[in-house]
Amino acid sequence: MTEQVYFFDTTLRDGEQTPGVSLQTPEKIQIAKALAQMGVQVIEAGFPAASPGDLEAVAAIAREVRGTTICGLSRSVISDIEKAEEALKEAERSRLHIFIATSDIHLKYKLKMTREEAIEQVKECLAFAKGKFDEIEFSAEDASRTDLDYLCQIFEVAIEGGASILNVPDTVGYMTPEEFGNKIKYIKDHVKGIDKAIISVHCHDDLGLANANSLAAIKNGARQVECTVNGLGERAGNAAVEEITMALTMRKDIYGVDAPLDTKQFTRVSKLVSKLTGVVVPPNKAIVGSNAFAHESGIHQHGMLNNPETYEIMTPESVGAEKTNIVLGKHSGRHAFEDHLERLGFTLEADKINTLFKAFKQLADRKKHIYDDDLMALVMDNLDRKQAVSLIHHHYKSDEIGFAYADVRLETPDGILEDAAVGDGPVDASIKAVQRVIDKPLHLQEYRMRAITEGKDALGEATVKVECNGRLYHGRGISTDIVTSSVNAYINAVNSIYLTEALELKK
Ligand code: KIV
Ligand code: ZN
Repeated sequence: MTEQVYFFDTTLRDGEQTPGVSLQTPEKIQIAKALAQMGVQVIEAGFPAASPGDLEAVAAIAREVRGTTICGLSRSVISDIEKAEEALKEAERSRLHIFIATSDIHLKYKLKMTREEAIEQVKECLAFAKGKFDEIEFSAEDASRTDLDYLCQIFEVAIEGGASILNVPDTVGYMTPEEFGNKIKYIKDHVKGIDKAIISVHCHDDLGLANANSLAAIKNGARQVECTVNGLGERAGNAAVEEITMALTMRKDIYGVDAPLDTKQFTRVSKLVSKLTGVVVPPNKAIVGSNAFAHESGIHQHGMLNNPETYEIMTPESVGAEKTNIVLGKHSGRHAFEDHLERLGFTLEADKINTLFKAFKQLADRKKHIYDDDLMALVMDNLDRKQAVSLIHHHYKSDEIGFAYADVRLETPDGILEDAAVGDGPVDASIKAVQRVIDKPLHLQEYRMRAITEGKDALGEATVKVECNGRLYHGRGISTDIVTSSVNAYINAVNSIYLTEALELKK
């Protein structure tokens, strides 16, 4: 039987460390359910000791998501392990992911510890964690820059302490594929007791080599790969689940292992994550970018018409990227609506479906054809996010030379407030009006608008990046009116600012 690679998805932990991304619990639950449906064996749901909000989100995922292992990150600190235990107590299967930095540079400048002290700390923490989780994964942070014999030594300590998964992170994305593959082989050949454990890898993309390094590790014996949807993650991001899986699937002749994920869900899950995080997928991104199956040149189009294999090594269908169909219209009933939500991977409570159905009917009055993408946008707009700020009223007018006036009324933590502004066009005037209400130093850094589906009645999706006190926040909004989408996106980013500040106050 062919060996399989285990997929450990860290979209909700390392992915959430993407600058500007901050997800709320209902959004995390939707992503976790989609990941479980896609077949990932382990979901790293968060870092429970990071904040009460993180603990609450991990606990909710542990309670609600079935059919996969739920994992919580922990430093090698007793109080972190206690928080992880509390968060994971209702998981069907729980995993503690405990880490300590092992490279000399991290030991000296970050932990201010000797190599021996780090080993003692790992021993103590693993003894404390034993029996509290179904399984334990140990990570040597910055493993790729760690002295290889010391790395083997600390891995032996971890195995003796009860860890059954040993993770080798290329924390700073410094490795090249051959070099990283050789390290994995060395670990496999030299660590005592390694045959009882699974070797895992966790690669960052600072040199654009995260996928290549992960694949080289698999070729040399790693059997768990840590990755994220769309390659999200700290700095340049992590290895991308969709790219690793398709490389293993398309080139099984090279890697010789099974990647047991439902690849047909990749496009849907990629869109879900992109919409909820506000991080736009570049059109030329492999597998899930909007151009991944587009053919521009005449010569290519001619070849494709004669035989798609001339220019496509995999089909769009294999990753769920076939063209969307008209799914519903204003005469569709509640049953058809609910069926479509389920097909899109949303399992929701009856009262939530009722609310969405009302929103769907309102949309169908304005928009003749409702596509899958419209439905996804509708669900995401109606998740139960905590809102510090909400729009009560918005009005704008503009003249033909672009001069515009807008006024807004907002519900804010300081009560109901309103203001007005003028600007270059209605979007500019509306955003300025919101800025005048919110008492924070807000700077719009990036603004994008795109039509979610085709036709002049299409929903417009605005995404923004707003800078506040040196940090970036993403926002997203939809409407058939692009000025309203823009204001919604801006307010969505403002809500992330309030949420982040509230969580930081609780820390
Ligand atoms: O990049 C890294 O080293 C990590 C560890 C916590 C595994 O994210
Ligand atoms: Zn990482």
